[in-house]
Amino acid sequence: MSRRFLIAANWKMHPIPDGALEHDAPYQSHSDVDIEVFASTADLKACVDAKIVTGAQCARPEAEGAFTGDTSMRTVADIGCRSVLCGHSERRRYHSETDEFIAQQAIAALEHNLHPIVCIGETEQQRDAGKEKEVVAAQMKLLPVDSQITVAYEPVWAIGTGNTATPEQAQEMHAYIRSLVPENRRDHIRILYGGSMKPENARELLRQPDIDGGLVGGASLKPDTFADIVHIASELAAEK
Ligand code: PGA
Repeated sequence: MSRRFLIAANWKMHPIPDGALEHDAPYQSHSDVDIEVFASTADLKACVDAKIVTGAQCARPEAEGAFTGDTSMRTVADIGCRSVLCGHSERRRYHSETDEFIAQQAIAALEHNLHPIVCIGETEQQRDAGKEKEVVAAQMKLLPVDSQITVAYEPVWAIGTGNTATPEQAQEMHAYIRSLVPENRRDHIRILYGGSMKPENARELLRQPDIDGGLVGGASLKPDTFADIVHIASELAAEK
């Protein structure tokens, strides 16, 4: 079955790029490629108001409570977001998010009709030790089975480093991750690649049969560069 490409921009803690909210900017929905923008919490409403399909970069599962500085899934949904990132490696690292907590986030997101994009991936050390499959299998284990979930395979050693996984490495991991999904959902779930995706490598990555799009950090901050990646995805979608 053919899964539509999703090209997601992860703006992290950067301000909204200049011109990004204009109606002709490349972050607007596209006829043959799905596009989503993950903006910082303070910028979510501006993106929603600009008719961008918007997602939060994190949110807590509890509806409300004494969690200073946090935002709930419910609020994210009320703002009008479509999606939420769960377990980005920067959240795992700087906020000690665990696989258990990330699974709770994914469940809560689904309860609020948000699409969770769950990020998984090994560190350089884990890959050097030959443990990359073991690591992603453990990260996948507690996730609810639901075709509204998208997985983003983001090898930690490739994020923000300029070192992209080769298309072969990425395909091998994507095929493995897909094999972990129950058979009746396997063909439906989208698995994105993330980690220094840019126009120079996007075509070869997106050509791989198990890569259904990209979660793009640095290269999503420049509208022209992001537009180039969307254009490549759109060309490849026409070939599918
Ligand atoms: P990068 O970030 O494209 O800058 O490597 C990707 C991500 O962290 O989602």
